[in-house]
Amino acid sequence: MLNKLKNATLLVTGGAGFMGSNFIRHLLDNEQFKGKIINLDLLTYAGNLDNLSGYDEDSRYHFVHGDIQNGELLSSIQEEHNIEIIVHFAAQTHVDKSIQSPRTFLETNILGTQSLLEFVRANPQIKFHLISTDEVYGSLPKEGQFFEDSPYRPRSPYSASKASADHLAMAYHETYDLFITISHASNNYGLCQYPEKFIPLMILNCIEEKPLPVYGKGDNVRDWMYVQDHSVALISILEKGVNGEVYNIASNEEISNLDMLHLLIERFCEITSNDPAKYIKLITFVPDRPGHDFRYSLNTDKMQKQLGFKATRSLKEGIDLTINWYLNNLDWVERVKNKTYYDWVNQQYTTVDMD
Ligand code: NAD
Ligand code: DAU
Repeated sequence: MLNKLKNATLLVTGGAGFMGSNFIRHLLDNEQFKGKIINLDLLTYAGNLDNLSGYDEDSRYHFVHGDIQNGELLSSIQEEHNIEIIVHFAAQTHVDKSIQSPRTFLETNILGTQSLLEFVRANPQIKFHLISTDEVYGSLPKEGQFFEDSPYRPRSPYSASKASADHLAMAYHETYDLFITISHASNNYGLCQYPEKFIPLMILNCIEEKPLPVYGKGDNVRDWMYVQDHSVALISILEKGVNGEVYNIASNEEISNLDMLHLLIERFCEITSNDPAKYIKLITFVPDRPGHDFRYSLNTDKMQKQLGFKATRSLKEGIDLTINWYLNNLDWVERVKNKTYYDWVNQQYTTVDMD
């Protein structure tokens, strides 16, 4: 049920990426939404207009190709559209890539966010929501949880850049009295995710019968959330979130990477009527990610108690939807594979011994 958002004009940054495009489709699919969405995206290797195909003709949707660091572009968007809310997804998002080449993470995630905050400073009626990550809190052992006020202990260039963006956002909130909220999400998965990330990479490598590279022993734990649940959570924050507050979003579906891979293989084989033994043989243990965070786990009581949000999609349901989507969208996969970064992701493992 939409209320404040019903007629709002939103600037969604990074809306051609995985989570941003799922959020835009989720809102446009809601017939109550009579407002406007401006999607500002630079279309890096991870941005893909295919993710919004079929929505291009919707008069509530406008795409602008450009960089969040371009202040003049932001001002011209404001002149034309009179933005009321910014939902800031745009970022460099792959941890391994941040370990290889950190600089662009600092430019996009820190300076890009600061450029948007300057824009809000010049237009202080705009509400700003920053999509952040559980990774800013660092790594947990087998026990324990992160709360919204847990200390920041980022351990990769990616998470350090996201932590910096969070600090800047809250500094602008305090210093310039701007309306700012932040959400920290756990690992999302679902349709249209670029196959550098664990779940789509494993699904596509199963389809192509390629090695399934597991870092270290595969005992690192992630809490996986179906991306549509994230969009629902976000709507509740945009509707009811309190100025200056931070919200944790997760589904409490923790699982080790190796167990997740076995579940993916089991579901893939059930769906495609294949023998799991063939895919289990493809599991390849590769050198661990440097500084690999062991476990993330978010306490989500605040979202549940204050905003009434609880994730509803089970892991098995979400995985089945995701596998089916990739199997039914092999043309999307082919186009994405033409982007060079995908080759780099797989080439890393071509020299690794399969035994
Ligand atoms: P993604 O990599 O799929 O998409 C990022 C998008 O940002 C792409 O469309 C890209 O073209 C765009 N972009 C990059 N630099 C830009 C720039 N300078 N100007 C404009 N657009 C630019 O990312 P995602 O996985 O959808 O993540 C979205 C946000 O959610 C990020 O801020 C990320 O840190 C955060 N997050 C992601 C996850 C996850 O599991 N994927 C979990 C928690 C938080
Ligand atoms: O927790 C939220 C974060 O989740 C987001 O902020 C990031 O943007 C997003 O990329 C994701 O980070 P992770 O590093 O957790 O996701 P990734 O899919 O890269 O890896 C998930 C786990 O699987 C992690 O423990 C590393 C491992 N892994 C990953 C890849 C790509 C493998 O074992 N093999 C692989 O090939």
